[in-house]
Amino acid sequence: MTGSMDPVAYNRAAWDREVDSGNEWTRPVGPEVIAKARAGEWSVVLIGYEPTPRDWFPADLAGSAILCLASGGGQQGPVLAAAGAIVTVLDNSPKQLERDESVAARDGLLLRTVLGDMRDLSAFGDESFDVVFNPVSNVFCPDLEPVWRECFRVLRPAGALLAGFLNPDLFIFDVEALDERGEFIVRHRIPFSTLDLPEEERQRELWADGPIEYSHTMTGQVGGQLAAGFVLTGFVEAPHHADATAAYMPGYFATRAVKP
Ligand SMILES: C[S@@+](CC[C@H](N)C(=O)[O-])C[C@H]1O[C@@H](n2cnc3c(N)ncnc32)[C@H](O)[C@@H]1O
Repeated sequence: MTGSMDPVAYNRAAWDREVDSGNEWTRPVGPEVIAKARAGEWSVVLIGYEPTPRDWFPADLAGSAILCLASGGGQQGPVLAAAGAIVTVLDNSPKQLERDESVAARDGLLLRTVLGDMRDLSAFGDESFDVVFNPVSNVFCPDLEPVWRECFRVLRPAGALLAGFLNPDLFIFDVEALDERGEFIVRHRIPFSTLDLPEEERQRELWADGPIEYSHTMTGQVGGQLAAGFVLTGFVEAPHHADATAAYMPGYFATRAVKP
C-alpha cells in the first residue's frame, strides 16, 4: 500500500470482504424484525448495541425522507422503511447495498440504494431529506469536513443529522496488545490512522484484510458539525460493543444535530 492509493477505493473492496466473512454489521435483519416494524414496534442502532433514542426521530415516521448514510448491510434502512419512512441507503460497498436490496425484495419494501462515498452526496439535491442517519462509519472515511457540509446541504430546514462515531481515544492503544492480551499500552498520538502503522505490521493478520481506519478528533466530529452550521440537540455515549476498553471508557458517541 502506498501514499498515493485511494483509501475509499481500498475500503470498498475491504467492506465487500467483510460481507463475505460475515461481519456482524453486514448481517441483514430477519422478516420478523420487519413485521414488527410494520406494526410500529421498531428501533435502530446508531452506536454499538444501543437503541437510538426514539425522540431523535420525527414523531411520525410516515412520509419522512431518511438518508441512511454509510449504513448498508440490510439493517437500519429496511427497518426504517418498514416503519413508514421513505428510505435511501448510500454506501461505499456494493455488497452491503445488496443486503438492503435483498431484504427489500424479500419483505416487499420500497427502498432506494446508491453506491457512493459519504463525502460526496451530489446524487441528491439540496434540502432532500428530513433525517440523515449515519451509524458508526466515518472511522473509514479520510476526512469529515465534506461529510458534514454535504449532510447540511441535503437536509431540509429543521431536519436532523443523527451521527454515531468512535471515541478517538480508543486509538491511543496498541491494538495487538489490547485485542490479543487485554493489555493497555499507550502507543499512538491522535489523530491516528491505521495507515500510520509500519507496513510490516499492517501486513500482519490483524490488519491485512480489514478496512483502513481513521481516529479523527472530537474537534473534527463535534466541532465539524457546528462549523457546518448545525445546532447540537442531543448527545449520548456507550461502551464499545466488543473490545476491552468497554470496562473503562465510552467507545462510542452519538450526536443529534439540527439544521436551523
Ligand atoms: C460498520 S458498517 C455500518 C453499517 C451498519 N449497518 C451499522 O449498523 O452500523 C460501516 C459501513 O460504512 C461503509 N463505508 C465505509 N466508508 C465509506 C464511505 N467513504 N462512504 C460511504 N460508505 C462508507 C461501509 O461500506 C460499511 O457498510
